Amino acid sequence: MACVCCKSVVIFLLAAGFSGVVCNGEDSARSETSSRSLLQNGLGATPPMGWNSWNHFGCNINENIIKETADALVSTGFKNLGYEYVNIDDCWGEFKRSENGKLVAKSSTFPSGIKALADYVHSKGLKLGIYSDAGYYTCAKQQPGSLGHEQLDADTFAEWGVDYLKYDNCNTDGSKPEARYPIMRDALLKTGRPIFYSLCEWGVDHPATWGGKVGNSWRTTQDISNSWDSISSRAELNNVWADYAGPGGWNDPDLLEVGNANASREEYGSHFSLWALMKAPLLIGCDVRSMTPTTRDILGNADVIAVNQDPLGVQGKRVTKYKELEVWAGPLSNNRVAVILWNRSETRAMITALWQKIGLQPGEEVTVRNLWKHRTEPDTRKGRLTASVKPHAVKMYILTRIHQ
Ligand code: GLA
Repeated sequence: MACVCCKSVVIFLLAAGFSGVVCNGEDSARSETSSRSLLQNGLGATPPMGWNSWNHFGCNINENIIKETADALVSTGFKNLGYEYVNIDDCWGEFKRSENGKLVAKSSTFPSGIKALADYVHSKGLKLGIYSDAGYYTCAKQQPGSLGHEQLDADTFAEWGVDYLKYDNCNTDGSKPEARYPIMRDALLKTGRPIFYSLCEWGVDHPATWGGKVGNSWRTTQDISNSWDSISSRAELNNVWADYAGPGGWNDPDLLEVGNANASREEYGSHFSLWALMKAPLLIGCDVRSMTPTTRDILGNADVIAVNQDPLGVQGKRVTKYKELEVWAGPLSNNRVAVILWNRSETRAMITALWQKIGLQPGEEVTVRNLWKHRTEPDTRKGRLTASVKPHAVKMYILTRIHQ
């Protein structure tokens, strides 16, 4: 794929002895996106953070898993880092609606019902998310979708105390997502309860171009899977839509796979860093109850999370690509810049970002915080930043101007 970059942010990459202008492109997202007003629900000023059941558990969920996950988010300290949504994905409901047409929690796996679960999650200071579908059945086909029942279902979710709805796109009537998704938006708004609205139509109808008026986030890709190729390609596909993200509405390259044990520490570190820089929802997709120390270190990196949650809300993007060596960057509040040097190749390589290519003046002096080493480098830098990066790994920094 051609490199997507911004007019004012064209950078050189000096890698393994090569140098050159790799791309030029259109202007940064900032003007259009940071001024956009929030959806009427007022949510999503920064990307949502939390957990979702799908990547690890699929349909094998029950109320104990949800409760124990809420407990674990608290006991690990992750709640205090900002992970607040506990999101139930597909397979929580009975196949049949009740006599009065309402969705019903599956009695075998959620015997206490969703309201009780929401009460429990709220008692921990967290929020509960649920899942439905803009079609006749959900994707797993084990429970009904909300097509034609939008208001009743939205009212039911609000009654239960739900705080977040992921709305999928399976088994529909064939009409365009752009026509179906606003119906649920209006129904949710009508309940009067602020419910984060996550559009999940996999990027098919280019939701970045209309999602800002409809939802708080929109999937830009088909489902992620737990492999390096899938993670890398989701990042690329999501990058294309960078200019459309901003406070109130975010591009969503899908749930995190960090901790699901198929990729290396370096690969999961790259995954988390890129999602943070792209202002993607940080929705953990592993079993929070049994995270390894490595998984905790990655998902619990407060420096990286702060990039994701920066109030400026500008999606960082790829600004340079030379073969498999890339630089991604984006502006942060207080005139700072976040930078990722990403080595997608199989061998260690030197990667360099030049100032004028990442939105800094060539003469500007900066302090450098290394977000994975958790330290501010002793020396200030001018003009460029070079580092040796392991295969499939990133280095990630915040550069702070000394003279502003
Ligand atoms: C779709 C979605 C996934 C997940 C499943 C559940 O594939 O894209 O994220 O919600 O459905 O069935």
